[in-house]
Amino acid sequence: MQDYHEFLEEVLIDEQTLQRRIAELGEQISQEYRGKDIHLICILRGGMLFLADLMRCITVPLTVDFMAVSSYGAGARQSTGHVRITLDLQTSIIDRDVLLVEDIVDSGYTIASVLEFLETRRPRSLRVCALLDKAGRREIDVPIHYCGFVIPDKFVFGYGLDMDEYYRNLPFIGTVAPQRYQPPG
Ligand code: IMP
Ligand code: MG
Repeated sequence: MQDYHEFLEEVLIDEQTLQRRIAELGEQISQEYRGKDIHLICILRGGMLFLADLMRCITVPLTVDFMAVSSYGAGARQSTGHVRITLDLQTSIIDRDVLLVEDIVDSGYTIASVLEFLETRRPRSLRVCALLDKAGRREIDVPIHYCGFVIPDKFVFGYGLDMDEYYRNLPFIGTVAPQRYQPPG
């Protein structure tokens, strides 16, 4: 596996900046959900580091569930607009205050599909918390109630986000120099 230093263009958001902002989001969420329980739904796999850090910064009672989705046309770096549920929730969300935790909103198709899917299950409330927002690439309008960082239109990796499934474990968000990146295999 290629060492990320070989294709890292720049560290876009360093670890300390990420953690500081996540603490702020946790504080804001805790205030706005005061008196309620939150049901966090994490979209695998990119959202898992964000979920783990965010939930430690939330002080109201919370529960967690997971779902996974895939865009048709696996391996593609661009959403096609068609999203398939590959792992469904384990528990009912009827009458619960659901907060969807996602790594990045790009075209918006993933979140739009997931929101549509979850709405049919009658949650009491449904909001979105996204760590990253590539606002310039939006193709479908989606609500982001809690946003960590708006970022430029560049492919990013680390902190849950992958390049061909690797590099999710890095504690920062980096941008890729595509001409220096060699896909595995
Ligand atoms: P959307 O459906 O176009 O909004 O794409 C959202 C999904 O695409 C995210 O959940 C990520 O899995 C993936 N994605 C979009 N941009 C990036 C990126 O820069 N790095 C890694 N994954 C990305
Ligand atoms: Mg993802």
